Amino acid sequence: MIERTLCLIKPDATKRNLIGAILSMIEGKGLTIKALKKLKLTKEQAATFYIVHKERPFYNDLINYMTSGPIVAAILEGENAVKAYRELMGATNPENAEQGTIRKTYALNLEANSVHGSDSPENAAIETAFMFSGLENC
Ligand code: PPS
Repeated sequence: MIERTLCLIKPDATKRNLIGAILSMIEGKGLTIKALKKLKLTKEQAATFYIVHKERPFYNDLINYMTSGPIVAAILEGENAVKAYRELMGATNPENAEQGTIRKTYALNLEANSVHGSDSPENAAIETAFMFSGLENC
């Protein structure tokens, strides 16, 4: 099934000039970049984007981290894109990520783990609508 999902390249990766390398891994997996932009989230925007995690102990750290520098947002499309991209990302904690995944290759630690991916098609629809307008999304 052809799906779309949201990818974020996090501040640790944009700071280290890894945008191209990460997008190359994504395209190498057969996923197509349908929309792409670089931006810096405000605290309010990050708090809304991550609202599902608001009761979790790391919520404030996550908001502070995701607003600490620029990020890149991309809409990815492909066969089972949500699962395919999450497999390519690897485990949340890079210590547990498999060889060849983005996080094993580039992530620094559990917080600075280089990339985000939607965890379901339903959340992918919510997250892509949050980050992109119809005009940007082709
Ligand atoms: S996941 O991918 O949703 O299953 O992972 P989860 O463990 O639920 O974590 C949700 C997001 O929170 C980030 N995270 C943390 N940030 C800072 N500090 C700590 N300790 C921490 N633990 C988890 C994790 O990277 C997920 O971010 P996103 O952007 O969704 O990948």
